[in-house]
Amino acid sequence: MNKHGGYYGDKTDIIDFSVNINPLGIPQGIKEKLIQGIESLVDYPEITGETAMGKLAAGISKRPDQLILGNGAIELIYLLARSLSDKKALIIQPTFNEYSRALKLYGCRTVDLVLTKEEGFRLTTEKLKEALLAEKPDLLFLCNPNNPTGVIYANDEIKEWMAISDWDMIWFFDESFMDFTGQPGMLSEDLDQGNFFVLKSLTKFYALPGLRIGYGAGNPKIIEGMMRYKEPWTINSLGLLALEDVYQEKGFANQTIEHINSQREIVFNELQKISSIEVFKSATDFHLCRIRNGASSLKLKNDIEQAGMSLRTCEDFSGLDESYFRIAIKSSQANERLIEFLKKWKG
Ligand SMILES: Cc1ncc(COP(=O)(O)O)c(C=O)c1O
Repeated sequence: MNKHGGYYGDKTDIIDFSVNINPLGIPQGIKEKLIQGIESLVDYPEITGETAMGKLAAGISKRPDQLILGNGAIELIYLLARSLSDKKALIIQPTFNEYSRALKLYGCRTVDLVLTKEEGFRLTTEKLKEALLAEKPDLLFLCNPNNPTGVIYANDEIKEWMAISDWDMIWFFDESFMDFTGQPGMLSEDLDQGNFFVLKSLTKFYALPGLRIGYGAGNPKIIEGMMRYKEPWTINSLGLLALEDVYQEKGFANQTIEHINSQREIVFNELQKISSIEVFKSATDFHLCRIRNGASSLKLKNDIEQAGMSLRTCEDFSGLDESYFRIAIKSSQANERLIEFLKKWKG
């Protein structure tokens, strides 16, 4: 298994900067619905969640045949890999390392296109074109905005790239962190035009990692392929209830985007003042950082946990090493506490 999921130690009041979960918590309306929904646990949920899917489809102006629900976004990464076994995939790295695990597990071949710090971890048309034409992959994985670098690409740029592959290739866009940016992402595009799949997670934005609910939207051909391998009842009744209403939470969404935007800028500016730390510009709710003198972030993690906080070391991401770490944006008080610690920390 890959390394994930936040702090599991025995400190109960830790501020966990290693998980990129909305610091505003679960929206109140969803929380109440989940509490009331406890009685529904005596019944089996719908096998593929058609009712919730219908409501979601209406809420985001898509058709149900363009959607698929998952036990967290993660289920759909594995399901897509399973439905495409033995194909060749190009992965834009460094990125979420489950793509690689899922693809390899189901017999797909993977090719990494590793972006560097000198490139600002940003993909360019030239670099992508070169890799696509050399490898002619069957599918491409792009996380947007990317975990852990925070780099974002605009739809226009992506659509230009999609024109390069004039062969039958699936474009997989993981937009699990897009909602924090306020940008529409590829979910807003016509899913019937083009061979692409967009992954969405409810875990991060709606602060529901324990509920395990996510969905994907894409060309019905891709969805149909995935449905052939989908196991029954992977989504529980409470997850389905949450899914029905999340898109009505407009006030919560605006408040979140406002909070993340303003705190991200404050945290970025403060981190830039710390000479021993290099911080990378991000579009979403976390920052990738690097300890400049090459000191290990494993020591930093150990030291910061003694001070009641935790962070994500990044040595297991392709193209990164022990000097990199990732920190989530939290409440202003928590962010201040983190900055104070980092200002004083001696590597
Ligand atoms: C980029 C990315 N995609 C997908 C996931 C999986 O999210 P979920 O909790 O919805 O399964 C994660 C979890 O960290 C992630 O970082």
